[in-house]
Amino acid sequence: SIIHVILTGGVGSRLWPLSRKSQPKQYLELFEGKSLFEMTVARNSHLVNQVMVVGNIDNCHLSRKVLEKSQTPYIDIVEATPRNTAAAIAFAAFAAQPEDILIVTPSDHIIDEMEAYTSAIAEAIAKAKDNYIVTFGIVPTKPETGFGYIEHKEDTVLAFREKPNKATAIDFISRGNFLWNSGMFCFKAGVLLDELKAFEPEVYAKAQQAWEANQNGRLDFDLSMAIPSISIDYAVMERSKKIKVVASQFAWSDLGSFESVYDYLAAQGHPVDAQGNMVIGTDVFSTFIGMKNTIFVATPDANLILQKEQSQDVKYIYNELERQG
Ligand code: GDD
Ligand code: MG
Repeated sequence: SIIHVILTGGVGSRLWPLSRKSQPKQYLELFEGKSLFEMTVARNSHLVNQVMVVGNIDNCHLSRKVLEKSQTPYIDIVEATPRNTAAAIAFAAFAAQPEDILIVTPSDHIIDEMEAYTSAIAEAIAKAKDNYIVTFGIVPTKPETGFGYIEHKEDTVLAFREKPNKATAIDFISRGNFLWNSGMFCFKAGVLLDELKAFEPEVYAKAQQAWEANQNGRLDFDLSMAIPSISIDYAVMERSKKIKVVASQFAWSDLGSFESVYDYLAAQGHPVDAQGNMVIGTDVFSTFIGMKNTIFVATPDANLILQKEQSQDVKYIYNELERQG
Protein backbone atom coordinates (compact mmCIF):
# COMPACT_ATOMS: atom_id res chain seq x y z
CA SER A 1 0.00 0.00 0.00
CA ILE A 2 0.92 3.68 -0.15
CA ILE A 3 1.78 5.29 3.16
CA HIS A 4 2.24 8.96 4.03
CA VAL A 5 5.02 9.30 6.60
CA ILE A 6 4.90 12.65 8.39
CA LEU A 7 8.03 13.78 10.20
CA THR A 8 7.09 16.06 13.02
CA GLY A 9 10.03 15.94 15.37
CA GLY A 10 11.09 19.57 15.26
CA VAL A 11 10.36 22.43 17.66
CA GLY A 12 10.80 25.24 15.11
CA SER A 13 13.11 27.17 17.41
CA ARG A 14 13.71 29.91 14.81
CA LEU A 15 10.04 30.88 15.16
CA TRP A 16 10.09 31.50 18.91
CA PRO A 17 7.92 32.93 20.56
CA LEU A 18 5.22 31.81 18.12
CA SER A 19 6.63 28.30 18.23
CA ARG A 20 7.28 26.55 21.58
CA LYS A 21 8.29 23.11 22.70
CA SER A 22 4.74 22.54 23.95
CA GLN A 23 3.25 24.09 20.81
CA PRO A 24 5.63 23.69 17.84
CA LYS A 25 4.98 25.80 14.76
CA GLN A 26 3.42 22.99 12.73
CA TYR A 27 0.46 22.89 15.17
CA LEU A 28 -0.21 26.65 15.32
CA GLU A 29 -3.50 27.49 13.68
CA LEU A 30 -2.04 30.42 11.79
CA PHE A 31 -3.45 29.81 8.33
CA GLU A 32 -7.15 30.56 8.16
CA GLY A 33 -7.59 28.65 11.39
CA LYS A 34 -5.65 25.65 10.15
CA SER A 35 -2.23 24.41 11.18
CA LEU A 36 0.55 23.36 8.82
CA PHE A 37 0.26 19.83 10.22
CA GLU A 38 -3.45 19.71 9.41
CA MET A 39 -2.79 21.05 5.91
CA THR A 40 -0.07 18.41 5.39
CA VAL A 41 -2.48 15.62 6.33
CA ALA A 42 -5.25 17.02 4.10
CA ARG A 43 -2.94 17.53 1.11
CA ASN A 44 -2.04 13.84 1.01
CA SER A 45 -5.02 11.98 2.49
CA HIS A 46 -6.68 11.24 -0.86
CA LEU A 47 -3.35 10.01 -2.32
CA VAL A 48 -2.53 7.35 0.29
CA ASN A 49 -3.99 4.35 2.16
CA GLN A 50 -2.44 5.09 5.51
CA VAL A 51 -0.61 7.72 7.58
CA MET A 52 2.36 7.14 9.88
CA VAL A 53 3.28 10.03 12.12
CA VAL A 54 6.80 10.03 13.51
CA GLY A 55 6.82 12.53 16.35
CA ASN A 56 7.65 12.73 20.01
CA ILE A 57 6.23 12.51 23.49
CA ASP A 58 5.69 16.29 23.67
CA ASN A 59 3.57 16.57 20.53
CA CYS A 60 1.89 13.22 19.85
CA HIS A 61 -1.37 14.39 21.46
CA LEU A 62 -1.43 17.35 19.04
CA SER A 63 -1.02 15.07 16.00
CA ARG A 64 -3.61 12.65 17.28
CA LYS A 65 -6.19 15.42 17.67
CA VAL A 66 -5.86 16.22 13.95
CA LEU A 67 -5.71 12.60 12.75
CA GLU A 68 -8.79 11.57 14.67
CA LYS A 69 -10.76 14.02 12.54
CA SER A 70 -9.36 12.63 9.28
CA GLN A 71 -10.70 9.51 7.52
CA THR A 72 -7.31 7.93 6.82
CA PRO A 73 -6.14 5.14 9.15
CA TYR A 74 -3.01 6.14 11.04
CA ILE A 75 -0.17 4.74 13.08
CA ASP A 76 1.65 6.73 15.74
CA ILE A 77 5.40 6.28 16.12
CA VAL A 78 6.50 8.07 19.27
CA GLU A 79 10.19 8.78 19.70
CA ALA A 80 11.62 8.89 23.19
CA THR A 81 14.17 11.43 22.02
CA PRO A 82 14.95 12.88 18.58
CA ARG A 83 17.63 10.87 16.74
CA ASN A 84 17.47 12.78 13.46
CA THR A 85 15.76 11.92 10.21
CA ALA A 86 17.66 8.75 9.22
CA ALA A 87 16.38 7.03 12.37
CA ALA A 88 12.90 8.57 12.17
CA ILE A 89 12.47 7.36 8.58
CA ALA A 90 13.92 3.95 9.43
CA PHE A 91 11.28 3.43 12.15
CA ALA A 92 8.52 4.08 9.62
CA ALA A 93 10.17 1.74 7.10
CA PHE A 94 10.44 -1.02 9.72
CA ALA A 95 6.79 -0.51 10.64
CA ALA A 96 5.79 -0.94 6.97
CA GLN A 97 6.07 -3.92 4.61
CA PRO A 98 9.17 -3.89 2.32
CA GLU A 99 7.01 -3.40 -0.80
CA ASP A 100 4.98 -0.53 0.69
CA ILE A 101 5.58 2.83 -0.94
CA LEU A 102 6.36 5.58 1.55
CA ILE A 103 5.83 9.26 0.80
CA VAL A 104 7.87 11.07 3.44
CA THR A 105 7.12 14.73 4.12
CA PRO A 106 7.86 17.25 6.83
CA SER A 107 4.81 18.70 8.55
CA ASP A 108 5.72 22.37 8.32
CA HIS A 109 5.88 23.30 4.64
CA ILE A 110 3.46 25.45 2.68
CA ILE A 111 2.57 23.96 -0.70
CA ASP A 112 0.22 25.54 -3.20
CA GLU A 113 -1.09 24.31 -6.55
CA MET A 114 -2.62 20.97 -5.73
CA GLU A 115 -2.79 19.77 -9.31
CA ALA A 116 0.97 20.12 -9.81
CA TYR A 117 1.53 18.52 -6.40
CA THR A 118 -0.68 15.56 -7.18
CA SER A 119 1.02 14.93 -10.50
CA ALA A 120 4.50 15.18 -8.92
CA ILE A 121 3.42 12.55 -6.36
CA ALA A 122 2.10 10.26 -9.10
CA GLU A 123 5.37 10.58 -11.01
CA ALA A 124 7.36 9.82 -7.86
CA ILE A 125 5.26 6.76 -7.02
CA ALA A 126 5.88 5.36 -10.52
CA LYS A 127 9.66 5.72 -10.06
CA ALA A 128 9.52 4.30 -6.53
CA LYS A 129 7.81 1.21 -7.96
CA ASP A 130 10.92 0.78 -10.16
CA ASN A 131 13.02 0.67 -6.96
CA TYR A 132 14.28 4.24 -7.06
CA ILE A 133 14.54 6.64 -4.14
CA VAL A 134 12.83 9.81 -5.29
CA THR A 135 13.39 13.32 -4.02
CA PHE A 136 11.27 16.32 -4.96
CA GLY A 137 13.35 19.17 -6.40
CA ILE A 138 12.36 22.82 -6.32
CA VAL A 139 13.68 25.49 -8.73
CA PRO A 140 15.88 27.71 -6.51
CA THR A 141 15.23 31.44 -6.22
CA LYS A 142 18.27 32.45 -4.12
CA PRO A 143 21.57 30.98 -2.86
CA GLU A 144 20.04 29.64 0.35
CA THR A 145 22.54 27.75 2.53
CA GLY A 146 19.93 25.98 4.68
CA PHE A 147 18.88 23.54 1.96
CA GLY A 148 20.28 20.57 0.10
CA TYR A 149 21.01 20.97 -3.63
CA ILE A 150 20.44 18.44 -6.38
CA GLU A 151 22.56 18.65 -9.51
CA HIS A 152 20.51 16.97 -12.20
CA LYS A 153 19.94 16.18 -15.83
CA GLU A 154 16.23 15.57 -16.25
CA ASP A 155 15.30 12.99 -13.61
CA THR A 156 18.88 11.74 -13.19
CA VAL A 157 20.71 12.99 -10.11
CA LEU A 158 24.34 13.84 -10.92
CA ALA A 159 25.13 14.89 -7.36
CA PHE A 160 23.31 15.61 -4.13
CA ARG A 161 24.96 18.27 -1.98
CA GLU A 162 23.52 18.90 1.47
CA LYS A 163 23.82 22.47 2.81
CA PRO A 164 26.64 24.09 0.82
CA ASN A 165 28.40 27.25 2.00
CA LYS A 166 27.38 30.60 0.48
CA ALA A 167 30.02 30.70 -2.27
CA THR A 168 29.16 27.17 -3.35
CA ALA A 169 25.42 27.96 -3.29
CA ILE A 170 26.02 31.02 -5.50
CA ASP A 171 28.00 28.84 -7.91
CA PHE A 172 25.23 26.20 -7.98
CA ILE A 173 22.58 28.80 -8.81
CA SER A 174 24.67 30.28 -11.62
CA ARG A 175 25.13 26.86 -13.22
CA GLY A 176 21.40 26.46 -13.77
CA ASN A 177 21.03 22.70 -13.39
CA PHE A 178 20.62 22.63 -9.61
CA LEU A 179 17.40 22.24 -7.67
CA TRP A 180 16.67 22.62 -3.96
CA ASN A 181 15.90 19.46 -2.11
CA SER A 182 12.42 19.92 -0.68
CA GLY A 183 12.98 17.39 2.10
CA MET A 184 10.19 15.21 0.69
CA PHE A 185 10.98 11.69 -0.47
CA CYS A 186 9.25 8.68 -1.99
CA PHE A 187 10.55 5.07 -2.02
CA LYS A 188 9.76 1.47 -1.19
CA ALA A 189 10.38 0.80 2.50
CA GLY A 190 12.65 -2.13 1.65
CA VAL A 191 14.72 -0.17 -0.87
CA LEU A 192 15.44 2.60 1.62
CA LEU A 193 16.33 0.14 4.37
CA ASP A 194 18.76 -1.71 2.05
CA GLU A 195 20.53 1.55 1.22
CA LEU A 196 20.65 2.60 4.87
CA LYS A 197 22.08 -0.79 5.79
CA ALA A 198 24.76 -0.45 3.07
CA PHE A 199 25.86 3.10 3.95
CA GLU A 200 25.15 3.36 7.68
CA PRO A 201 25.05 -0.18 9.07
CA GLU A 202 25.13 1.02 12.67
CA VAL A 203 22.17 3.36 12.24
CA TYR A 204 20.30 0.52 10.56
CA ALA A 205 21.10 -2.06 13.25
CA LYS A 206 20.49 0.22 16.25
CA ALA A 207 17.27 1.62 14.78
CA GLN A 208 16.08 -1.92 14.11
CA GLN A 209 16.83 -2.96 17.70
CA ALA A 210 14.99 0.07 19.04
CA TRP A 211 12.03 -0.50 16.73
CA GLU A 212 11.73 -4.19 17.61
CA ALA A 213 11.47 -3.29 21.30
CA ASN A 214 8.72 -0.70 20.72
CA GLN A 215 5.63 -0.75 22.92
CA ASN A 216 2.57 0.28 20.90
CA GLY A 217 4.75 2.45 18.69
CA ARG A 218 6.56 4.00 21.67
CA LEU A 219 10.33 3.76 21.58
CA ASP A 220 12.64 3.10 24.47
CA PHE A 221 14.92 5.97 25.55
CA ASP A 222 18.17 4.03 26.10
CA LEU A 223 17.86 2.00 22.89
CA SER A 224 17.12 5.25 21.03
CA MET A 225 20.16 7.01 22.48
CA ALA A 226 22.34 4.24 21.01
CA ILE A 227 21.35 5.21 17.44
CA PRO A 228 23.87 7.55 15.76
CA SER A 229 22.23 10.90 14.98
CA ILE A 230 22.49 11.61 11.25
CA SER A 231 20.08 13.06 8.71
CA ILE A 232 18.72 10.97 5.84
CA ASP A 233 20.36 13.48 3.49
CA TYR A 234 23.89 12.74 4.71
CA ALA A 235 23.21 9.05 5.42
CA VAL A 236 21.60 8.05 2.11
CA MET A 237 20.79 10.86 -0.35
CA GLU A 238 24.38 12.06 -0.79
CA ARG A 239 25.65 8.53 -1.36
CA SER A 240 23.02 6.36 -3.04
CA LYS A 241 23.13 5.60 -6.76
CA LYS A 242 19.40 4.90 -6.77
CA ILE A 243 18.21 8.50 -6.47
CA LYS A 244 15.87 10.09 -9.00
CA VAL A 245 14.54 13.62 -8.85
CA VAL A 246 11.09 14.89 -9.75
CA ALA A 247 11.46 18.56 -10.66
CA SER A 248 8.35 20.01 -9.06
CA GLN A 249 6.12 22.67 -10.53
CA PHE A 250 4.16 23.41 -7.35
CA ALA A 251 4.77 26.47 -5.17
CA TRP A 252 6.77 25.47 -2.12
CA SER A 253 7.90 27.32 0.95
CA ASP A 254 9.75 26.14 4.01
CA LEU A 255 8.50 28.47 6.74
CA GLY A 256 11.70 27.95 8.65
CA SER A 257 12.37 31.49 9.83
CA PHE A 258 10.56 34.81 10.32
CA GLU A 259 12.07 36.01 7.06
CA SER A 260 10.24 33.29 5.13
CA VAL A 261 7.07 33.79 7.19
CA TYR A 262 7.30 37.52 6.38
CA ASP A 263 7.69 36.85 2.65
CA TYR A 264 4.83 34.39 2.71
CA LEU A 265 2.46 36.67 4.64
CA ALA A 266 3.39 39.71 2.53
CA ALA A 267 2.56 37.74 -0.63
CA GLN A 268 -0.78 36.83 0.97
CA GLY A 269 -1.58 40.52 1.49
CA HIS A 270 -0.74 40.78 5.22
CA PRO A 271 0.01 44.48 5.99
CA VAL A 272 3.58 45.77 5.61
CA ASP A 273 4.25 49.49 6.20
CA ALA A 274 6.14 51.79 3.82
CA GLN A 275 9.45 50.98 5.57
CA GLY A 276 8.92 47.24 5.30
CA ASN A 277 7.86 46.68 8.92
CA MET A 278 5.36 43.98 9.85
CA VAL A 279 3.31 43.01 12.90
CA ILE A 280 2.60 39.32 13.49
CA GLY A 281 0.32 37.79 16.09
CA THR A 282 -1.78 40.69 17.37
CA ASP A 283 -4.65 42.93 16.25
CA VAL A 284 -3.65 45.55 18.85
CA PHE A 285 -2.69 48.70 16.98
CA SER A 286 1.11 48.76 16.76
CA THR A 287 3.33 51.12 14.80
CA PHE A 288 7.00 51.72 14.02
CA ILE A 289 9.05 54.92 14.00
CA GLY A 290 12.49 55.13 12.45
CA MET A 291 12.70 51.42 11.77
CA LYS A 292 13.11 49.46 8.58
CA ASN A 293 12.38 45.80 7.82
CA THR A 294 11.50 45.15 11.43
CA ILE A 295 9.18 42.36 12.53
CA PHE A 296 7.17 42.68 15.74
CA VAL A 297 5.95 39.29 16.97
CA ALA A 298 3.40 39.37 19.77
CA THR A 299 2.15 36.48 21.88
CA PRO A 300 0.26 36.54 25.22
CA ASP A 301 3.40 35.94 27.30
CA ALA A 302 6.37 36.93 25.15
CA ASN A 303 7.13 39.46 22.41
CA LEU A 304 9.99 39.59 19.95
CA ILE A 305 11.24 42.54 17.91
CA LEU A 306 13.74 41.64 15.24
CA GLN A 307 15.50 42.86 12.15
CA LYS A 308 14.15 40.70 9.33
CA GLU A 309 17.65 39.94 7.97
CA GLN A 310 18.64 38.49 11.35
CA SER A 311 15.89 35.89 11.42
CA GLN A 312 18.32 32.98 11.65
CA ASP A 313 19.54 34.23 15.05
CA VAL A 314 16.23 33.62 16.81
CA LYS A 315 17.33 30.07 17.58
CA TYR A 316 20.07 31.44 19.87
CA ILE A 317 17.46 33.16 22.04
CA TYR A 318 15.42 29.99 22.08
CA ASN A 319 18.46 27.92 23.06
CA GLU A 320 19.41 30.40 25.79
CA LEU A 321 15.88 30.37 27.27
CA GLU A 322 15.84 26.59 27.04
CA ARG A 323 19.17 26.46 28.93
CA GLN A 324 17.85 28.74 31.68
CA GLY A 325 14.80 26.46 31.95
N1 GDD B 1 10.32 12.54 14.06
C1 GDD B 1 11.43 13.23 13.86
N2 GDD B 1 12.54 12.92 14.59
N3 GDD B 1 11.41 14.22 12.97
C2 GDD B 1 12.55 14.90 12.80
C3 GDD B 1 13.73 14.63 13.52
C4 GDD B 1 13.71 13.57 14.48
O1 GDD B 1 14.67 13.26 15.17
N4 GDD B 1 14.69 15.51 13.12
C5 GDD B 1 14.11 16.29 12.18
N5 GDD B 1 12.81 15.94 12.00
C6 GDD B 1 11.83 16.50 11.08
C7 GDD B 1 11.73 18.01 11.20
O2 GDD B 1 10.71 18.37 12.12
C8 GDD B 1 11.38 18.41 9.78
O3 GDD B 1 9.98 18.28 9.56
C9 GDD B 1 12.09 17.35 8.92
O4 GDD B 1 12.29 16.24 9.77
C10 GDD B 1 13.42 17.81 8.32
O5 GDD B 1 14.28 18.18 9.37
P1 GDD B 1 14.93 19.62 9.44
O6 GDD B 1 15.74 19.70 10.69
O7 GDD B 1 13.90 20.69 9.22
O8 GDD B 1 15.93 19.53 8.21
P2 GDD B 1 16.60 20.74 7.49
O9 GDD B 1 15.64 21.85 7.26
O10 GDD B 1 17.85 21.06 8.21
O11 GDD B 1 17.00 20.10 6.04
C11 GDD B 1 16.13 19.24 5.31
O12 GDD B 1 15.06 19.95 4.72
C12 GDD B 1 15.43 20.94 3.73
C13 GDD B 1 14.16 21.55 3.14
O13 GDD B 1 13.37 22.10 4.14
C14 GDD B 1 17.00 18.57 4.24
O14 GDD B 1 16.26 17.51 3.67
C15 GDD B 1 17.46 19.56 3.19
O15 GDD B 1 18.14 18.88 2.15
C16 GDD B 1 16.24 20.27 2.60
O16 GDD B 1 16.65 21.23 1.63
MG1 MG C 1 13.75 22.37 7.93
